[in-house]
Amino acid sequence: MQDQYQRNIGYMRISVTDRCNLRCQYCMPHGMQWLEHSQILTYEEIVRLARIAITLGIRRFKLTGGEPLVRHDLVGLVSQLSSLEGCEQVTLTSNGILLAEQAEALAQAGLQAVNISLDTLDRAQYKAITGQDALDKVLESIQASLQAGLKVKINTVLLQENESQLVRLASLAQNQPVDVRFIELMPIGSGAQGRGLSPHKARKRLKQHWPDLADVQEKRGNGPAHYQASAGLQGRIGWIEAVSHTFCNECNRIRLTSTGQLKPCLCYEHGMDFRALLRGGASDEELAAQMRQLIFEKPKAHCFEDAGQITEHRQMVQIGG
Ligand code: GTP
Ligand code: 5AD
Ligand code: SF4
Repeated sequence: MQDQYQRNIGYMRISVTDRCNLRCQYCMPHGMQWLEHSQILTYEEIVRLARIAITLGIRRFKLTGGEPLVRHDLVGLVSQLSSLEGCEQVTLTSNGILLAEQAEALAQAGLQAVNISLDTLDRAQYKAITGQDALDKVLESIQASLQAGLKVKINTVLLQENESQLVRLASLAQNQPVDVRFIELMPIGSGAQGRGLSPHKARKRLKQHWPDLADVQEKRGNGPAHYQASAGLQGRIGWIEAVSHTFCNECNRIRLTSTGQLKPCLCYEHGMDFRALLRGGASDEELAAQMRQLIFEKPKAHCFEDAGQITEHRQMVQIGG
């Protein structure tokens, strides 16, 4: 359906848990309190909301967390969502720690693509950024996902400390059909205190290595990334520049948090408590009407350039990116 600014909203990010098996500095501070299981939507509740969203024209679903694979039987959820009539696509964003062992089953269940977070190829630095000595597991997951037939994109958040790693990371696109995307650090939660690297600086580094790197107009997913290609790279290089290049006029998404809040924009705390509606006995028609209203009123743009106006004070791990 269209919102009040005539944007087509056809994609829902569904966070299935606030838990994660890593502790990336910019996403999850130490000492966070986990939610109780009863506070989190059940798979049955998620599937019901997805079915209603489809009736409003939302046909693509992205599963996020925290880390979605720490939740029991995510394969089962993928299978239920992808079998819903009218569902066009189910994809996943994961840190890759538990993915190698589940990639095949996820693909069998109907998953089409996975975005794998990886900020460095240096083992010690990986541990420093994420808190776990688990780089090898992520690398295994990339290969297992390709073997399972999933489309693979790498997500690298641009940080001061990974500047020297950017060419190595981009080289993951050299001999395999993998896209590597560089993400500008957003001032959400701990990200506001992080030390980001400008995409402009990062692009200059890659240009030195691949001088023919140039913009392409291809769509490689549903998200805000724009892409570049080089004859030396099989995959594409993507850029997600939420702060320096606002892409809100093309926004196509809403978010469902793990507690069942339907959230129209990443930047604002505002949303509607669908868990209360579901558990209060709302009918499908009532749920659809509330969803339609919330989507219609989606804000025009984020306000990352003016920190004082950001009303979202949760951590990224609680929202799902
Ligand atoms: P696909 O390209 O369809 O695979 O999805 P995606 O890039 O939207 O998903 P992913 O989960 O990999 O997110 C990549 C980065 O984009 C993360 O840092 C997200 O926080 C960020 N992102 C996703 N959607 C939005 C959005 O609506 N607004 C902003 N500002 N950032 C977003
Ligand atoms: N800014 C930009 N990207 C972030 N992510 C987590 N926190 C931030 C932030 N503050 C990324 C993760 C993951 C994706 C879902 O969001 O690295 O790839
Ligand atoms: Fe976990 Fe992803 Fe956040 Fe890192 S960025 S702590 S992997 S949810």
